[in-house]
Amino acid sequence: MSIQFDQNTAKKLEVLYQSRDAKKRRKAVLDALQLQAGEQVLDIGAGLGHLTLEMAQQIGMTGKILGVDLNEPMLELARQRCQEFPWIEFKMGDALNIPVKEDSFDVAVSVQVYEYIKDIPQVLNEMYRILKPGGRGIIVATDWKSILWHSNVPDRMKRVLSVWEEHCAHSDLPRFLSKYLKQAGLKIKSQSPIVQFNSFLNPDAYSYSMINFIRPFAEGKQGLTKEDLEAWADELDDLEKKGEYFFCLNQFLFEVEK
Ligand SMILES: C[S@@+](CC[C@H](N)C(=O)[O-])C[C@H]1O[C@@H](n2cnc3c(N)ncnc32)[C@H](O)[C@@H]1O
Repeated sequence: MSIQFDQNTAKKLEVLYQSRDAKKRRKAVLDALQLQAGEQVLDIGAGLGHLTLEMAQQIGMTGKILGVDLNEPMLELARQRCQEFPWIEFKMGDALNIPVKEDSFDVAVSVQVYEYIKDIPQVLNEMYRILKPGGRGIIVATDWKSILWHSNVPDRMKRVLSVWEEHCAHSDLPRFLSKYLKQAGLKIKSQSPIVQFNSFLNPDAYSYSMINFIRPFAEGKQGLTKEDLEAWADELDDLEKKGEYFFCLNQFLFEVEK
């Protein structure tokens, strides 16, 4: 079963999105977007609204941003975060059937959302439908199978990562996304990696938050007990103390045009 985007997940995501590594990823998205004042932007799976807010600062009050998300706890926090930006609106909506008219946005963004949705052709058809002709899109997806996470108990680490691959619908979406983008009629302008590399373990590290997501998710799966997961997390702390911590994960940014 995939992870649930409920209140508890939202709290943990808040920590992740304040991290240096998440800020670095938002910067990569903003650099690729080159937003112009007055543009109409759709944030698909807007989550807690961190990127939505930064995009709003760039397009200014003559622009308009709509953030859609399927989960109310996420939308509630996003609305609170963005309340000083009346040119942002948040709406409950499914990326599979976005409640907006066709050809209505200059820009569509979806960061780390599509990997949680089974029907990839349909989400891309929707991105194509809502973009104006010539409109541009950014998709960021994580290759969860690309994780390198050092451990002196490699069998346990392997089991933990194998369970974690089940937390979303497509743990290796970047590997086949280009095929589906082309099928949807979206032209690929660029593809680039965003590497999350941590040689330390503190709240600024992407992997720090991941530990807090993985522990409750993995418990009871593939024979992993609470104690196993505690020992797994303790080992990572020890490696940090010894200066031997090593984590690496690849995310990918796809820039497309209608
Ligand atoms: C990992 S969060 C990413 C949030 C945000 N895009 C960011 O990067 O800050 C994934 C988000 O996708 C949303 N989501 C999952 N499935 C969805 C769907 N079918 N339609 C719309 N949103 C969805 C979740 O509610 C969650 O807010």
